[in-house]
Amino acid sequence: MPSGQQPTQASAVCRLLSNVVLSSMDLHKAYGGVVPEIAARSHIEAIMPVIDTALRVAFQGGSLATAWGQIDGIAVTQGAGLGGSLLVGVLTARTLAIIKNKPLYACNHVEGHIYANFLTEVADNLQLTGYGYELPKNPPEFPMLGLIVSGGHSQLVIWQDHFNYKLLGQTHDDAIGEAFDKVAKIAGLPYPGGPSIEKAALKGNPYAYNFPKARLAGQYDFSFSGLKTAVLRAAQAAIGEDFTFLSSKLPERLSTRQKADLCASFQRIAMETVADKTILAYEEFRPASVVIGGGVASSQALRDELSKRLPCPINYTDRRLCTDNGAMVATLGCFKAILNQSKSDPYMLEIKPNLSM
Ligand code: KG4
Ligand code: ZN
Repeated sequence: MPSGQQPTQASAVCRLLSNVVLSSMDLHKAYGGVVPEIAARSHIEAIMPVIDTALRVAFQGGSLATAWGQIDGIAVTQGAGLGGSLLVGVLTARTLAIIKNKPLYACNHVEGHIYANFLTEVADNLQLTGYGYELPKNPPEFPMLGLIVSGGHSQLVIWQDHFNYKLLGQTHDDAIGEAFDKVAKIAGLPYPGGPSIEKAALKGNPYAYNFPKARLAGQYDFSFSGLKTAVLRAAQAAIGEDFTFLSSKLPERLSTRQKADLCASFQRIAMETVADKTILAYEEFRPASVVIGGGVASSQALRDELSKRLPCPINYTDRRLCTDNGAMVATLGCFKAILNQSKSDPYMLEIKPNLSM
């Protein structure tokens, strides 16, 4: 958050100066999912080089000392997330806040996904480096309905204003992205499952299987574990086996056609479920804006389903800012600072892996 660049009021321009992302995704691929210990280790190795690069990109030509002089505050993800990775981020931020004497803002990861939509401008040097962000020209208006769909969360939230929100519903078991990752494993497709399934689904019949949609007492709550099991059972049945057949052996027995049909049908039901609940919430709360964030928000299938069925324009997070990144947390921290939200004590701030909205 550089001096003189930050907005002076909640509706003002929020400009991104740099966004350096170093993903450990490739390291997890061999295991078909995130391995917490590998994630934590790779965070330790990456965090200082990433901060260093982010400062150099943001303050091109200036020394690091000058760059730090222009920074007004530090935002860090406190939760929700994996303990080891959060610890690396929080301890680094605490240390920097102490030695550089900067205020520290603890951020909620899930809230951060929505705040990626409050970035309205990108510094010229970033456009020149080919980022090509398509950010909203104006920030979303309140009341704002937020759908957060990621590897760890499926939530519907209504904001009356900044930092004044109510959680309408969330998943009872698997998050939607987690279900994509598990179904991809059943079909023998690479991690992360979402993009792999979206690609395979293009060649499949979305109506080949009519998987059930979960019915829950909370009308805005989600459940994706039953859908994942229904895909597993359908895959076993498709090759003439029963429920005792090992899921790890399925990829070698399923044909490309069967995999594509399973993926397309699963994706249709998952996206329809999310759209059903978003429409219900839209009709009840009639928000001034609808914002979709999180890794799954990069799905074209989800965008098509929502745009087709919701009777209002939708803010989709820029694709490059859907999966986890620093810019979304920095933006949230920026709003915390300008709206005088409470600062954290850099000697005390602790991680909250299960932090909820
Ligand atoms: O937000 P994110 O980067 O990490 C978490 O906070 O969890 O989301 C990652 C999740 C993964 O589960 C991945 O499979 C899913 O987002 N994802 C998608 C797509 N792209 C990423 N799911 C469905 N369709 C996609 N195109
Ligand atoms: Zn995330």
